[in-house]
Amino acid sequence: MYVCLCTGVTDGKIRDAIYDGCCSYREVREATGVASQCGKCACLAKQVVRETLSSLQASQSVMSYPAEFSVA
Ligand code: FES
Repeated sequence: MYVCLCTGVTDGKIRDAIYDGCCSYREVREATGVASQCGKCACLAKQVVRETLSSLQASQSVMSYPAEFSVA
């Protein structure tokens, strides 16, 4: 899905930028150019960044548990 029509940035590109190491909306904007022109997509772009970061944090915390469970 296109998030930014001015620069052609999709939600997938935003996710890829985060998987590649961006950890804030500002970093994603600098890496992808999203919301760098008219700015109308900023709200949606921030939402995609927020959702991706929180699902990434959730999956990382799930991954860190199995070692503790196997010890118990
Ligand atoms: S739609 Fe993203 S900067 Fe215009």
